[in-house]
Amino acid sequence: MTESQGYVDLHLHLLPNVDDGPRSMEDAVDMARVLVDDGVAAATVTPHFNEWNPDLLPNVDALTEQIDSLRQSLDSEQVPLQLLTGAEHFLTPELLHKLKLGEAPTLAGGPYILVELPFGDKPIYADELLHQLGLSEVMPVLAHPERYRWVQQDPDSIRPLRERGVLLQLTAASMLGHYGPGIRKTAERLLLHGDYHLVGSDRHRARQSRSLSELEAAVAPLIGSDATDVLFRQNPRRVLRGEPLLPVLEEPIQPPKKTLLSFLGRS
Ligand SMILES: [Fe+2]
Repeated sequence: MTESQGYVDLHLHLLPNVDDGPRSMEDAVDMARVLVDDGVAAATVTPHFNEWNPDLLPNVDALTEQIDSLRQSLDSEQVPLQLLTGAEHFLTPELLHKLKLGEAPTLAGGPYILVELPFGDKPIYADELLHQLGLSEVMPVLAHPERYRWVQQDPDSIRPLRERGVLLQLTAASMLGHYGPGIRKTAERLLLHGDYHLVGSDRHRARQSRSLSELEAAVAPLIGSDATDVLFRQNPRRVLRGEPLLPVLEEPIQPPKKTLLSFLGRS
């Protein structure tokens, strides 16, 4: 399978013994096999980088070597998954500094950087830091906004960030309902509003229900095939090429009207 045919997974934890991903090279190769079977052709490996947690702060100089070593194992096991560099950065003031020093990996070494926030309330520094990131040479991609409590409480509260150029990434397990109905509903609402630009599996292990093909099957009936193609194929490739992303929807889609029977769970 070539890169042009398969998915590009822009968010996953595949390097062995680097973060909370696979615990051995064998587990990592297993996980890569699952990805390839799901239709993934290329992936930016995005280990957690958290300046405030030494357990989740990989040595940036060692990353290239670790990716090379995984590449060699995939080659010898004949698993055709193209690996690219990346990171999932916990948003901290130190991140801006690291970025200026060239010590904060971006997605495929290009102009997009994947960042995450705590799952509870929005930190008071988040807006300013995301704004600062947007003013720098990189474009922030916020991982799984639907998983943050403040977004679930008020999905519209994400919009000021979007208007400032923050891009949003939908995580497979959220939309597939594995984090519960509240997160799934939030994901659906953002999706129908056209808030997402990208998707990712956020897979940590081989045996996890985080399939991009299942996600695509869930998303396509809601937003249509053209928008799905932008979300799953065109935009990820634009990230790899360092090009501006396309809007997924020209305008929001109204959610289907609830009938009395659907409220009662009978349709
Ligand atoms: Fe992640």
